[in-house]
Amino acid sequence: MNRRSLLIGGAASVAAVLVSKNATASTAPTMAGGVYYTAQNPGRWAKKAAGHAPVIEAKSDGGSTTLQVVTGHEMKGYEHYIIKHMILDANYQFVAEHFFNPEKDNAPISSFNLGDKKGTFYALSVCNLHDTWMSSITI
Ligand SMILES: [Fe+2]
Repeated sequence: MNRRSLLIGGAASVAAVLVSKNATASTAPTMAGGVYYTAQNPGRWAKKAAGHAPVIEAKSDGGSTTLQVVTGHEMKGYEHYIIKHMILDANYQFVAEHFFNPEKDNAPISSFNLGDKKGTFYALSVCNLHDTWMSSITI
């Protein structure tokens, strides 16, 4: 092997590594089902999706929109309850949150007035035992 073929071989190896890294990046797994859970990606909580994925309903009143978020989950004191609901915008930036008091709140239901904001919003529902669940709505 002469010096020229060694350099060409080295360049080909570098190119192969770069292609391999790009292929890995484009096939990276989603965070749904691992970092957070959804009805479609319940991960390790597959049997818990029905009681944890938040249900979002949008109500418009003139130019103002209110999101109502409901999690069909028990509020069994501090033993098992929904800690909070949180709203994120389309860029996953914080919009608002509502904390629940498991000794006073009978159901994890919250409302968020978005004013005239439009687009996609995400609702997060956080259970003290079964992690964070996310749903979305576009208004
Ligand atoms: Fe739970």
